[in-house]
Amino acid sequence: MRNKIVAGNWKMNNNSSETAELLTQLISKIPETTAEVMVAPTFVNLAQAVKQLSTSSMEVVAQNMHFAENGAYTGEISANMLQSIGIKTVILGHSERRAYFGEDDALLAKKVDAALKANMRVIFCFGEELQDRKSDNHFKVVETQLKNGLFHIDKGQWKQIVLAYEPVWAIGTGETASPEQAQEMHAFIRKTIAGAYDQETAEMVTILYGGSVKPGNANEIFSKPDVDGGLIGGAALAADDFAAIVAAI
Ligand code: 13P
Repeated sequence: MRNKIVAGNWKMNNNSSETAELLTQLISKIPETTAEVMVAPTFVNLAQAVKQLSTSSMEVVAQNMHFAENGAYTGEISANMLQSIGIKTVILGHSERRAYFGEDDALLAKKVDAALKANMRVIFCFGEELQDRKSDNHFKVVETQLKNGLFHIDKGQWKQIVLAYEPVWAIGTGETASPEQAQEMHAFIRKTIAGAYDQETAEMVTILYGGSVKPGNANEIFSKPDVDGGLIGGAALAADDFAAIVAAI
């Protein structure tokens, strides 16, 4: 059985006291679940979040990291720094990193390697843009992102990988991929992994859907056989909404 995961990507939202307040609400509202529940506050609030959730089953994860172990990279954060405050999982390849900060497949491959080498778990994000889908190139784009960013890793390293398919046109737009579109792409992703590695690896990997997941659509999206949970943006910032999405898994 694959792990189910619901992760909240808070992006650049919530200062220190807002982070504490939202976590307090989540601690009381998140229902009992066998799924893994994760929250990704901004870097400066990670340490306080780890402390606040020390007796909770919720995991605190990072939104990004640099590939180097240390050195002259002003403004950057290494795997070791994250691990030294108790972070075990990092989101890499989010479409906002790709679009606004020039992170391409080659850079992401280096970040993946650095995280895996440090024994961290990676939530690897990818997904097509609207023009790719309109021109019927969405499968090709997703396949290329996976091949270039990830398919150099060894079979054994897939234990440390979670995938997050996030069609760019569905992020923060209120427009969601239909459950059928999500299922179709997730099945394609699994087939692609089976082709590059093997069926066992493809069946084991958790594949999250992200893009305007809300309490009102989570049930239907999560009911699809190849959708193993969600990476939640906007709705992760409201405790009631995030709790309802966790309940849907
Ligand atoms: P929204 O849920 O706000 O569309 O964001 C999705 C996302 O980017 C999660 O990483």
